Amino acid sequence: MMEDIKRLQQEITELKRKKNAVILGHYYQRPEIQEVSDYIGDSLALAQEAQRCMADIIVFCGVHFMAETAKILNPTRKVLLPVMEAGCSLAESCKAEDLRRFHAEHKDHIVISYINCTAEVKAESDLICTSGNAEKLVNALPKEQKIIFAPDKNLGSYINSKTGREMLLWNGVCTVHDAMQAEGVLKLKAENMDAPVIAHPECNAALLKVADFVGSTKAMLNYIKKSDAKRFIVVTESGILYEMKKENPDREFITLKDEKSCACDDCGYMKMNTLENLLACLRDETPEIVMSEELIEAAKRPIVRMLEMSREMGIIK
Ligand code: 13P
Ligand code: SF4
Repeated sequence: MMEDIKRLQQEITELKRKKNAVILGHYYQRPEIQEVSDYIGDSLALAQEAQRCMADIIVFCGVHFMAETAKILNPTRKVLLPVMEAGCSLAESCKAEDLRRFHAEHKDHIVISYINCTAEVKAESDLICTSGNAEKLVNALPKEQKIIFAPDKNLGSYINSKTGREMLLWNGVCTVHDAMQAEGVLKLKAENMDAPVIAHPECNAALLKVADFVGSTKAMLNYIKKSDAKRFIVVTESGILYEMKKENPDREFITLKDEKSCACDDCGYMKMNTLENLLACLRDETPEIVMSEELIEAAKRPIVRMLEMSREMGIIK
């Protein structure tokens, strides 16, 4: 088994070199995929990396909207996604024509969309955000600016609570984070009083209320680095534990799986990518993300705006 993994990883690494390809991997990918990735990051960092990528081929080990974002930001590169069906419940919850209709009913609002949406939805949006910059971007807009926030109602309601805004929220959720329950977290908290709870803002509002820290994937990693605690209750997708343990071998991470009330912290979409289909994708150069020039241009504007604002505010370099 271990030998198979090593052999596949070696073949992938050789092909990558031969084809001048890079692998961009999200923190939620399987550990063996993270090991062959040239760059691992959260949604914001991966978008940035995709923008500056010089390789001929980008293989995106993540989900469809992320590979689409890479293509939008770097359209002259060939962008591959090992499994075309690797979707996202948030992207699926919001159809561009429904958002357009809703916006037409609220013409005095601008649309901010979480990056977890389709290119067509991005094209309908004024600004894109990620969980790593949403609060700061919203705060940078004039107080009286009316806003529709799509498609994540949990992230939107969290940002409303932090900024005092009353953004209109689309009714979408990340089915992975939304299924995690405050009760389970409270139980873990009672049994592990020394361990702060760190949670992703895609979790539901009741859960976020009992968290000690709420932040994006990267923000959680930074929080651990700066904290004096030795143990943490981690409330998010399981893939991040690989990087957490790698960066903090002397610390302990407790999850809802330990509480046994929930085996819900694996994103089935993210885990569709395997070494086998990654190798096939790199070898055959398919499935490829193909988009019209018009769609790329329309979807690019709000993403570039996000990246520019994030740079101006010092959120990214
Ligand atoms: P971030 O990478 O922005 O933390 O988002 C998490 C997520 O659910 C990605 O699909
Ligand atoms: Fe979508 Fe949630 Fe999976 Fe991220 S973890 S890809 S938001 S379903």
